[in-house]
Amino acid sequence: MPDLNLTPLTPSIGAEISGVDLARPLDDGIRERLQQALAEHLALVFRDQALTPPQYLAAAEAFGPPMRQHYSQHLMPEFPDIGLVWHRDGQRPAERWHTDHTNRERPPAATMLYGVEIPSAGGATSVANMRAAYQALPEAERSRLETLRTVNRLDADHEDTLPEDRAKFDGPYLHPMVRTHPLHGSKAVYFHISKGVVEGMAPEASRAYLADLIERMIRPEIVYTHNWRKGDVLVIDDRATMHRAHGDYDRRESRVLWRIIVEGDRPRL
Ligand SMILES: [Fe+2]
Repeated sequence: MPDLNLTPLTPSIGAEISGVDLARPLDDGIRERLQQALAEHLALVFRDQALTPPQYLAAAEAFGPPMRQHYSQHLMPEFPDIGLVWHRDGQRPAERWHTDHTNRERPPAATMLYGVEIPSAGGATSVANMRAAYQALPEAERSRLETLRTVNRLDADHEDTLPEDRAKFDGPYLHPMVRTHPLHGSKAVYFHISKGVVEGMAPEASRAYLADLIERMIRPEIVYTHNWRKGDVLVIDDRATMHRAHGDYDRRESRVLWRIIVEGDRPRL
C-alpha cells in the first residue's frame, strides 16, 4: 500500500498530508490510507488545492458518499451536495462546539471544508478530539454516558430552516452518547447540544448537562485550530470530534468555505 506523507499537527489531533492532489483521481490504495489516517488523526489538512466542484465531489468519495445538507438555500445550485458556508447569505458562524447533522439515521462520517475566500485575519475552525475527551473522563462518568442516548432533530429555534427541509430532515433519531468508531474501534463522546436532547431528560436540563460536559471535556490540549489559507481542504472525522467556527473576523471581508458531508455508519455504542 502507498505511504502517505503525513505530519502530525498537535500531539492529540490533526495531521497535514502533502503530495496528494485532490483534483486528480485517487486510487484505492490512497483512499484506504486516507480513511485510516482520518480515523487515527481525526482532522486532515491538505494545502494548496485547486478544485472545481466536480473534482471536489470526486475527492470526497474517498471518505464516503456525499449526502444532502439540510439548509437547501445554501447549496450550490448546480452541485447541491456542496453547501456554501458564508455569512453574506444570512448564515451565522457556528461558534458552539458541535458535530454535524446528528438528525440523520446515518449521520456523516466526515465533514470536508475547502477554503475559497479567506479573511485576512481570524475565522479559524477548531476541532476537538472527543476520543481523548472520553478517555479523560472518570470511570463512573464514562459508564454513565454509555447508558445514555440523545433524541436528535433539527434545531427548533433556527428560523432559517425552510419548511421543506424540516419536513425531510427533522428526525427524530436516537443515537448513543458514546460512539464506537467503525474503523478505529475506539469510543468517543458523541452528541449535538442543540439537535440532541438526552432521552428522558427535560430539554433545559439536557442542555445544561451537555453544556457542562463540553465545558469540562474540551481542553486546549485536545484541540487543533486550523487557520485558513485559500486552497486548504480540512477533513474532520465527525464520528469522534466536535468542531466550531471562530467568528472573530471583519465581517466586511468575505469568508467562503465549500462544505461536503459524507455519510457514515449508524452510530453504535
Ligand atoms: Fe459544523
